[in-house]
Amino acid sequence: MQSIIAKNGCETPEPVKAQVKGSIPSWLQGTLLRNGPGLFSVGDSQYNHWFDGLSLIHSFTFGNGEVTYRSKFLKSDTYKKNVKADRIVVSEFGTMIYPDPCKNIFSRAFTHLSNVIPDFTDNNLINIIRYGQDYYASSEVNYINQINPDTLETVSKMNYRNHIALNLATAHPHYDDEGNTYNMGTAIMGFGRPKYVIFKVPADASDKEHKKPALRKVQQVCSIPFRSTLFPSYFHSFGMTENYIVFVEQAFKLDIIKLATAYFRGVNWGGCLKFDKDDINLFHVINRKTGKVISTRFYSDAMVVFHHINAYEDDGHVVFDLIGYKDGKLYDMFYLHNIKQETDNFIETHKSFSQPICQRFVLPLNVHKESPRGSNLVTLKDTSAQAVMQENGSVYCQPDTLFEGLELPGINYDFNAKKYRYFYGSRLEWSPHPNKIAKFDIVTRTHIEWKKDNCFPSEPVFVASPGAVEEDDGESATSEPTKGTSSVLLCF
Ligand SMILES: [Fe+2]
Repeated sequence: MQSIIAKNGCETPEPVKAQVKGSIPSWLQGTLLRNGPGLFSVGDSQYNHWFDGLSLIHSFTFGNGEVTYRSKFLKSDTYKKNVKADRIVVSEFGTMIYPDPCKNIFSRAFTHLSNVIPDFTDNNLINIIRYGQDYYASSEVNYINQINPDTLETVSKMNYRNHIALNLATAHPHYDDEGNTYNMGTAIMGFGRPKYVIFKVPADASDKEHKKPALRKVQQVCSIPFRSTLFPSYFHSFGMTENYIVFVEQAFKLDIIKLATAYFRGVNWGGCLKFDKDDINLFHVINRKTGKVISTRFYSDAMVVFHHINAYEDDGHVVFDLIGYKDGKLYDMFYLHNIKQETDNFIETHKSFSQPICQRFVLPLNVHKESPRGSNLVTLKDTSAQAVMQENGSVYCQPDTLFEGLELPGINYDFNAKKYRYFYGSRLEWSPHPNKIAKFDIVTRTHIEWKKDNCFPSEPVFVASPGAVEEDDGESATSEPTKGTSSVLLCF
């Protein structure tokens, strides 16, 4: 893994036909888009963290049993500035650059806290998201870059703030059956009271003819005030059921003062996150049609969450599955000096890191003032998750552990927001190097997995067969850096 990790990638701008070993079903049609860090140094300067690398977008186009591949760097302003200067000149998550063009702005604004949220990078390396019929490379800040999904050309940079008041937004939105997109963001400063914002972009929002962005039709579903003004929760994703959005307000928080003064203190963005193990995680349940927040105060012990797996409603409960950690050290693991260690050394020196644990939480919706105190209000028979009402009327939730050592979860998205049985993911067993992929069966609580020496598979993506009845009838694809060869796309 060390020979390939954080190695600079290169573009394959024209489509090349892939060599196919085995066979790909003829029904598998369309394009798989992947995004991720692809350039870890510019000139003589190098990034420090896996989440800093400049975005390289890949596409695998399937048709008639054949596959073509291409890739292009996202031509963000950040990419262009770096290339022009032949060095890294824009700060990223784990790499702070001095002097920075923002520094003067910060100097001026230092005494005006309401204006100090920094102008972030537009190196959108996390995901590809869709609003209307527009596709965007996204990260977690107010900038996204529209791309052409066929040519991978960068179309234009978009600022959420021109359409909705946000400083941050997730790279993991949800899509409903009609094709509407739901997403969440954080409005920290300069927009009145700081709050989390849930928004929706209608399926028909695009206007290709007049080149108008889909985001111009964005609708706010609801806003939720921070429980602590200067320490809003970090969040990377959220859950969605047929009627509700599930938002976990975590004990893993952004330190706003640190963020605002990061340049002066020599702290990178990653250093502005802190985990408060003595705090709690609050669960907000929002009706996504009315925007009304359920008033019951559901909470759990403190944990760190990046990925929700799925959520659904079952007999008067909201059930949601996520991957939780006992601490916030995961980001540290991905500093390049850590991730480049030999796996054995890494495991030895990072024994204290907590494992990703797939957990199920169940929130009973029919809670009322007279509900019994001290007993479990969950009546579902297929889970050991508990929700116990406390004397003060809040409900303490304890999870049902489904599986340990799995991250980058995926499901058959036709079952998103619905009761489901299977999820897929990469195994992460005390190492930042995924060495297997797994399919987990929630009903039998068993899993199957695939591995091969020197293969490091990324997150699997499930595609249902046409006319599939069974949830797991389909193909799963994952791209896989492989020692000593070109990258490989695997289909199962
Ligand atoms: Fe993610």
